[in-house]
Amino acid sequence: MRKADVIIIGSGLAALMVAYHLCEHKNVIIFTKSNKETSNSWLAQGGVAAAIHRDDHWLFHYEDTLIAGCEHNDDEAVRILVQEGREALQHFMNLGFSFDADERGQLLFGREGAHRMKRILHAGGDATGKNMVSFLFEKLSNRVTFIEHDPVMDLIVYDGRCVGVQTKKGTYMADATVIATGGVGQLYTFTSNAQTATGDGIAMAYRAGAAVTDMEFVQFHPTMLYVDGKAVGLISEAVRGEGAILVTDDGRRVMDGVHPQKDLAPRDIVSRAIDNEIKNGHRVFLNISMVPHFPSRFPTITSLCERYQIDWRNGLIPVVPGAHFLMGGIVVNVHGETTLPGLYAVGEAACTGVHGANRLASNSLLEALVFSRRVAFRLLQKMERRSVMEKSEKKESNERISLPTKEQIQQTMTQYVGIVRDYDQLLQAKQWFEQYSIHKLVNMASEHDDEKRTIMYMLIIGWLITTSALQRRESRGAHYRSDQPFEREYWKKRRIVRTKAEHFTKEGFR
Ligand code: SIN
Repeated sequence: MRKADVIIIGSGLAALMVAYHLCEHKNVIIFTKSNKETSNSWLAQGGVAAAIHRDDHWLFHYEDTLIAGCEHNDDEAVRILVQEGREALQHFMNLGFSFDADERGQLLFGREGAHRMKRILHAGGDATGKNMVSFLFEKLSNRVTFIEHDPVMDLIVYDGRCVGVQTKKGTYMADATVIATGGVGQLYTFTSNAQTATGDGIAMAYRAGAAVTDMEFVQFHPTMLYVDGKAVGLISEAVRGEGAILVTDDGRRVMDGVHPQKDLAPRDIVSRAIDNEIKNGHRVFLNISMVPHFPSRFPTITSLCERYQIDWRNGLIPVVPGAHFLMGGIVVNVHGETTLPGLYAVGEAACTGVHGANRLASNSLLEALVFSRRVAFRLLQKMERRSVMEKSEKKESNERISLPTKEQIQQTMTQYVGIVRDYDQLLQAKQWFEQYSIHKLVNMASEHDDEKRTIMYMLIIGWLITTSALQRRESRGAHYRSDQPFEREYWKKRRIVRTKAEHFTKEGFR
């Protein structure tokens, strides 16, 4: 058994920033189930949104965030994001990080969907996430312990408190454990997310007794590069911010007559418009012929196209929408505290409510910068020292449960719990998931085999998304039901909060 002050699970921007703020004072171990470069942050092409331009104001950013989030947002979390965001970004630049600037050294501001003005900073054109994360790897070198390729299998809970983690290779106790494992994109056939984004952090928190919420709100990004029936990578919204437009194979503009902001309308609206064209038998392309200096402005996308032999010079890039971001996650307050003492969460795995029903573009790297500071400061202020024993509350012993394949889960989610949902489809998906005895998966000991454990956690997450989507009888933001196509006042700011207590009745398991 080893001991740390703080254990962080995940290696994206939020994880690294918590570590950065703590490492002077605390002994920190970061676990990743793959190598440390595998994360959604690493893949982030879009930038960091912040109201720092002289013509901008945090109130404009605040309003844009609420409009995109369909006012399902937690207002206080949004205020913190946009106000503290400016300071957090300045702090990051003071550490020595450079965002893209013109020849006079003036920051370049880009535009993305649903922002009323240019307020997005990028680094390396479309390699913002990779540059920020690499910068932090350097800053953290020899200051924290990275343990790669050692998946956390479960949280250790003792006496109603999270006291550490059980990994594949050992037991680690800690005064505080921080989940920063990112999102759930891999539950869908098409996604922009890293291979590792299977929702395990959220599943582990739920299994340990922490509350999760807003699971029905999964954002689909309108433009993944589409090659041979597969989505092979993101085509940033910043490309549309530079003037690219969506067109069909018969030359029509997809967004004509759909929304006043056209190609820069909120993502859920653009994704549904593309989905509709595809369901009507059309192919959809991003016409980039009007984007100046495409290869130098978008080097990552240019090389992605070249890797798949898509000739971007002819101006048309084939696209399809894909799962991109989970607005819900583990319930946390604005200091990252979950409902389970000793357990914290940050980044995409956490839900402060900041994104509401639909995240505004380039608010996620900003969220990582802002809320990681808050989590770290809370840990420095009030972390309780515990002398813990290597003990955990007993889980049910395992019985053999037959499991589906990952692809079957992805097909079910894509077909029935995708961009457009309805009651019958959601019910069908619920029944499909429940044949795998979800209540048992929630309570049984974790699987040692990586593939089986991942599937087990994907089943829990898929079931949570499906059943929350079934419960929310309205359409709002990224959650669109064709049988309930309008927002309802009753559901405004009403959260669907889930805990594992729902698997118990007076008599025992359901
Ligand atoms: C993008 O570059 O389009 C994605 C940015 C984001 O999700 O914020």
